[in-house]
Amino acid sequence: MSLAPPVPVSQSSLRRVFADLRSERRAAAGVGYPPGETGFSMGRTRRFNARPLPVLLECHQRFGPIFTLRIFHGNIVFLIGPEANHYVTVSHADHFTWRDGHMGDLIPLLGDGLLTVDGEFHRRSRKAMLPAFGKERVAATLTQMQPEIDAALHGWNDGTRLDLSSFTRRLALRIAMRALFGLDPDGPLARDADAATQFEHALGFWATEYVMQILRGPRTPWARMQEARRRLDVIVYGEIHRRRRSGERGPDILSLLLDARDEDGSALDDRHIRDEVMTLLFAGHDTTTSTVAFLFHELARKRHEERALVDELDAALHHRAPTFAQLMGGALPRLDRVLDETLRLYPAAWIGPRQSARPFEFAGQRVGADVPVAYSSWASHHLPGVWGDPEAFRPDRFAPEARALLPKGAYIPFGGGSRTCIGMRFGQLEIKAITARILRDFTLEVASDGPLAIRQMPTIGPRDGLPVIVRAR
Ligand code: HEM
Repeated sequence: MSLAPPVPVSQSSLRRVFADLRSERRAAAGVGYPPGETGFSMGRTRRFNARPLPVLLECHQRFGPIFTLRIFHGNIVFLIGPEANHYVTVSHADHFTWRDGHMGDLIPLLGDGLLTVDGEFHRRSRKAMLPAFGKERVAATLTQMQPEIDAALHGWNDGTRLDLSSFTRRLALRIAMRALFGLDPDGPLARDADAATQFEHALGFWATEYVMQILRGPRTPWARMQEARRRLDVIVYGEIHRRRRSGERGPDILSLLLDARDEDGSALDDRHIRDEVMTLLFAGHDTTTSTVAFLFHELARKRHEERALVDELDAALHHRAPTFAQLMGGALPRLDRVLDETLRLYPAAWIGPRQSARPFEFAGQRVGADVPVAYSSWASHHLPGVWGDPEAFRPDRFAPEARALLPKGAYIPFGGGSRTCIGMRFGQLEIKAITARILRDFTLEVASDGPLAIRQMPTIGPRDGLPVIVRAR
């Protein structure tokens, strides 16, 4: 029998708030919550919304590796640090669900894709897509990435000013559309809908204040997100229908999904395929976009690191396009370390929201079932007891001998366990290919010298983009 889709989650904000309050009452009447900041406070909610990292680090210092924080109307139990990360993602991963926790907040845009489902539905969906993320298939995508990157840099000259975040979002979406879905970004479907702008509008919903996210009706952030979703759906459903009609297939995930057969031989329906495609389009471009911006932000502040990286690239590549083996096989160790350190300081998917599926005990604290729980790579990557001088950008932390000394679970930019990021190899390849190509001909100056403001939802990224001035090398 084909597998039933997961039970729909209510999109009524009030219903969700009441459901949260009810399950909180049950939890409080049971084993209660670990110590922390559990009183309602709009001030704390705003501080967390604007800058969650200092709030989490301060609580970790006061309460230890497990604590409770009341954000807006609900308590969330945070587990921070190497042991906590290992506990949530690997050793006790089956104690936690994704859909019932705050990951489920993404359902109004993503639907029931890999990020928002659990159990058998998740296992079968992931199995259907895994072949597309194998080494050979990802290696083949480099031949689609490189012409896209070359074309995007075509208009760059000494003195060109641009926003690197918007630039990379457009580029990463074009790459995702072409390499992952075999969709022509210049075809009428994608061009007219302008996917990058629609994603910016849609994702802007989660960057607004919590109170604003509750509102429904015309001209609310919700309405804007739903309109963007509708326009993105036109692209995705349009391509699904076109492929079904024409029978056209290629070495892309959409082809894999269209031809996938469940264990009983039944095909995936359009809605399921749409949800997986939308999830991969989101996860596959938003994370790489902010990582490229953060990487160049740091290189602009650490010119000696940039110099060392450029020397390595010049010596190994002689101004030629790198191969997959060069980019991913350890032949460019400086590039590897610069990316690793960027993802330590700024792990794009900084929070892993879950809900406890059963009671558990961690570090002497008991937590009941049905409680919102989260681990955080961002906070874990900034613990002074694990990382010396955690705010400093020091790629050599990832030299092999230093890396070998890191405790298990200390470094987790791609999550861990059986739900480790499925796009890790693709994302790393793409970021390295973009970085190497930019640095071949250019250096980037950051146009403003103030501190970088970071927006935190749904992934971290420069809040006001990253305005840069291009300098020819
Ligand atoms: C720098 C790039 C990226 C970073 C830092 C990143 C980070 C992560 C993290 C931390 C998780 C686990 C979240 C959790 O435990 O709650 C995750 C899951 C996931 N990522 Fe990525 N990601 C990146 C690129 C990509 C790309 C390029 C794709 C798709 C092409 C992708 C697709 C996914 C999907 C579908 C999942 C859910 C996997 C599952 O539950 O089975 N990611 N990612």
